[in-house]
Formats: sequence, C-alpha cells, structure tokens
Amino acid sequence: MAVRQPIVSVLGHVDHGKTTFLDYIRGTSVVDREAGKITQHIGATEIPLDTISKICGNLVDTTKFSIPGLLFIDTPGHQSFTTLRTRGGALADLAVLIVDITEGMKPQTIESINILKRFKTPFIVGANKVDRIHGWRDHKNQCFMDSFQEQNERVQNKLDELLYDFIGVLYKKGLPADRYDRVKDFTKNIGIVPMSAKTGEGVADMLMLLVGLAQRFLEKKIEMEEGPGEGTVLEVKEEKGLGTTIDAIIYKGTIRKGDTIVIGSEQPIVSKVRAILKPKPNDEIRDPRERFDNVKEVSAAAGVKLAAPDLDGVVGGAPIRVANVDLDIIIEEMAKEARAEIDLEDDGITIKADAIGSLEALAYELKAKKINIYKAEVGNISRRDIIDISTASNLLDRIILGFNVGLLPDAEEEMHAQGAKVVMSDIVYKLVDDYVEWLEKTKFEMEKSDRVEITYPGKFKLLPDCVFRVSKPAVCGVRVIAGRVRPGQRILRSDGRVVGRIKSIQSEGKTVEEAITGQEIAVSIEGITIGRQLCVEDVAYVDIPEADAKTLQDKGLSVDERQILEEVFKIKRKEDKFWGM
Ligand code: GTP
Ligand code: MG
Repeated sequence: MAVRQPIVSVLGHVDHGKTTFLDYIRGTSVVDREAGKITQHIGATEIPLDTISKICGNLVDTTKFSIPGLLFIDTPGHQSFTTLRTRGGALADLAVLIVDITEGMKPQTIESINILKRFKTPFIVGANKVDRIHGWRDHKNQCFMDSFQEQNERVQNKLDELLYDFIGVLYKKGLPADRYDRVKDFTKNIGIVPMSAKTGEGVADMLMLLVGLAQRFLEKKIEMEEGPGEGTVLEVKEEKGLGTTIDAIIYKGTIRKGDTIVIGSEQPIVSKVRAILKPKPNDEIRDPRERFDNVKEVSAAAGVKLAAPDLDGVVGGAPIRVANVDLDIIIEEMAKEARAEIDLEDDGITIKADAIGSLEALAYELKAKKINIYKAEVGNISRRDIIDISTASNLLDRIILGFNVGLLPDAEEEMHAQGAKVVMSDIVYKLVDDYVEWLEKTKFEMEKSDRVEITYPGKFKLLPDCVFRVSKPAVCGVRVIAGRVRPGQRILRSDGRVVGRIKSIQSEGKTVEEAITGQEIAVSIEGITIGRQLCVEDVAYVDIPEADAKTLQDKGLSVDERQILEEVFKIKRKEDKFWGM
C-alpha cells in the first residue's frame, strides 16, 4: 500500500528553537530573516527521505522505508499565536515538541501539550539547546548517543538532572516519558531526544525516530488516498503577477490545475485553481531559496501556493475542498462545518473570539476547568452581548470573555451603564485565569454579604479565671468551640433560654467583627451577670432566628456548622416541636 508523507508539526514555547531545528535540517537560515526573530506564520517544508538519509548516515537504513519523506509544519511559539498553534497542531499526524531543556516547561509548552492531547497526536520531545549546558563540548552533526559519550561526567549528570526534572513535570501531567534510548514501548511512553538545533547534535536521532515511528505506527493513517483534494489555508497573500494567492497544506487526495474548489466559511467561497506553485524540497514555503515549481497537480501531503480568482474573504484556517462534482452538497457541508462545535449549556458564561479555531481553543480550556458556556460566537463584543449577560439569573454568569476581539463603542457604554464584567485578552490562559480570579472574588463577596445578613451557627465556652467584669456589661474570656460568633448576637443556653446580647469582641487587644473556631477572645455581654445567667465553664450557643435556621439548612455549611445547627434544633424543639419547619 502506498503511503503519503506524514505531516509533522513542530510546536513549543517561543525561542526554544523550532525554526532553528528546521533550518538545520534544510540547511537554511530562515530564522535570521524573521521579523523580530520570532515566527509569526505557519510554515511548511517537505523533507525528502534522501535528506533524512544523509543526516542520519548509518543510523538508519532508509531503503527499508516506504514513506516518501516528512512534511514539517513550523508553528509560532509566541503567546499571541494560540490560533496558529492550534491550527498547526490540528494538521499533524505526528509532532515534535521542542523544549529549551535549560528552561524546562513554559506556558506555551503546556499549551502545546494540551493541543496535542486534544487532537490525540503522538509526539516526541526535542530537549533542545544541550550545547548551552556549562562545559558541553560541541560535536557538530553527531548523533546524541555518540556526543553524550564524549562529555565529561559532570556534564552528563547535569543533562540527566535537567531531563529528570522535565520528565517529572510531564509525569504530573499524566504523560510518562523517558530519554528515547530507554523507552521500550513508544505507544506507552513519550521519547525525549536531547539535541542541539545549533550544532546539529541529536537531530539525526530525532529524524530516525520520526521516520521509524511514522512507518511503524501511522501506516493506516497515512495510506495514500485517491480522490478530490482536501486541505487547510495557512495564509492569504498578495503576490506580484498572481494577485491574491493562498498558501495551503493539502492533507488528503489530489488537487489539479483547473479544479473547482470551495473554501469554507459560513458563506463558502467557490473558485477555480489557476496555478499550483510548489516549493522545492527542503525549502520553506514562507521563505524559499528557489522559485516555486509550477505544477499541474499535487497530492497529499504537501504545502503549496494556489493562485485562484475571487478569494476575497478567505481567512487563515479555512478548509479547502476540491468540488468538481457535487458542488452544492459540498458548499452546504462546508457552511455547516464553519459553525463552531462547542457544547453549550442552559447556564454559563459568554465567550467571543476572532475565529472559529480560537473560539474552540478557548472553549476547550474552559471545559477542562469544568466551566459552562452559555453562548459562544465569533465577532467583536456588541451591546446585545452586554444586555444578554446582564439579565442572566446567576450573577456568576454575568461575564464575557473576549479572545482576540474588541469591544464595540456602544457595547462599552452599555458595559459601564450595566456594570457588566468583560475580560479581553489575546492569551487564552490569561482569560481563563482572570475569569477564575473574578469568579472566586465574586463568590467570596456574595457569601460575605450573605453571611452578614443571616446568623450562622456558633458554639462557645466561658473560660475559667478570665472574668474581667461581672456585669454591665459582663466581660469575660471565651473560646469558640466551633462555628462563628459576632457582635449583636443573642446567646442561647443549652436549656433553651435566650439570655444577653454580645456587645463587642476583642482579640489580642483589637476589636473584631467575628471570631471563629479555636479563637480565644474577650467578649462583652449586655444583660447578664456572670455567675447568674451564665457561669464560667458554661457552654452556650449563638441564638439563631427561626427564619435563618430554615435558610441555613440549604446552605453549604461546614461539618462543624451543620453539627451545631442540629444541636440548636434539638434545644429549640424541646419547647416547640415545629420550630424551624
Ligand atoms: P518562535 O518561532 O518565535 O516561537 O521561536 P523558535 O522556537 O522558532 O526559536 P528559534 O529557532 O527562532 O530560536 C531562538 C533562538 O535560540 C535563536 O537565537 C537561535 O539561534 C537559538 N537556538 C535555537 N536552538 C538552539 C540550540 O540548540 N542551542 C543554542 N545555543 N541556541 C539555539
Ligand atoms: Mg520559529
């Protein structure tokens, strides 16, 4: 069975060395020409098997392989590019997670791992920049195992230490991993290849593993499929002499010059392929050394530039399908697909994002934290959105998270008028963290105002040798056995009689609004004389009004609080059988 090239996405935190790794394989210097030296678009490079064979030398016998090579996808690691990372991750048959091992796990490393988990993509970790370990002796282009033997013991131990730290963090994320030469079963453990994209050490090991795993485990997935081409738009570009063009990855079937294509959106765009331009092998589509080949057809998997008329409105991430037959059916299917697949609930928060991919990425992160979503839409935050959340019955749902979107001017006015909560960011994690922080704060405030209004259970004991004044008001030491005690509360004796009223509470010389379990405090009590209505060593309760006792039964009380509430019920019901019903 013929197989296509597997698509291998390279993911990881910014500056950890993804593009340098590919530069080394290609023999290019794409990194040097990147604006601000960071990758801002998805790239694609076809690496034929003979290039891999040259780099690997006698590490692998590539004649045994049926895969024609690997199609590498480079992705941006900067925090703002979640959408592009997700897109790059979604395309992958296999992935390389590049980690600067001297830095370890970083936010976008975690994000990349989550993307790979979400799409169930197998991956290998490239523990990069080993040459930066103090004392490392460079052995340019050598495979890792050979170079490692040549390092002194201190350097070897340092690398092991860094690897074990990283393995530990992966383990906590439910991902067992080990240095690749120690892995017995790659379906159970993730292999880690120590490497340097700068000196090339370990790159051969990485390639050997990639082709080996692809050949062994992906055969079914990468069977060559005849039929109409399918792909994904990477970028829309104006090119001199060609007009608007799209860079795309074709991951299935074949696309030919003259084919009718449909590009997905809620109103799918129909066009005809005028030219197919294919980068030379070992060239990056974003920054080629040589002119593209003008080809008649291309089969998956490949990165190509398509020239076609009427591409207005095409956006990155959109799906492309060849539709020479069944055009209407395909248009309808693609319109349907363009709607985000997000589970919505009857209660929950509202989210907005700039594109379906980013909306889904945000929804995924929220779902992982068990946060319900009520509404999820692409577009800027509008006045309508603000009005909608302001009427949500649960105060905790009155929030909008905006990912890579703006707030329309009339929405801003409405937001101030309603006091509505809007959080906007171009970083998924920041949105989720800000939401969780807001949630905790709002919950705390709601509970606080609740707790002030109703009387909560409290039980205390008058301490011996701590009577400072016998009456008018009585002042004595008290230990809170359980629950909480506040000024203004009346006191319930265990025989059911209600006596006195707590005037104030002092703790370590300062007046306080509340004393809780375990605290020893001085209380002043109006309306009693110690030795008469209350004696030292007496245990007494906070008197709970009947209405509050009813409400409390449905509240989230602690075990102690619930216990005291039951004791209060027992005391009260000795006099009134129906108390609190
Ligand atoms: P983004 O695409 O912006 O996320 O970054 P990237 O992961 O592609 O990193 P890039 O390849 O641009 O490398 C960032 C910097 O690290 C560059 O200055 C590289 O020269 C350097 N670098 C990459 N790999 C290595 C390595 O193995 N050793 C050393 N010493 N430097 C490296
Ligand atoms: Mg890069």
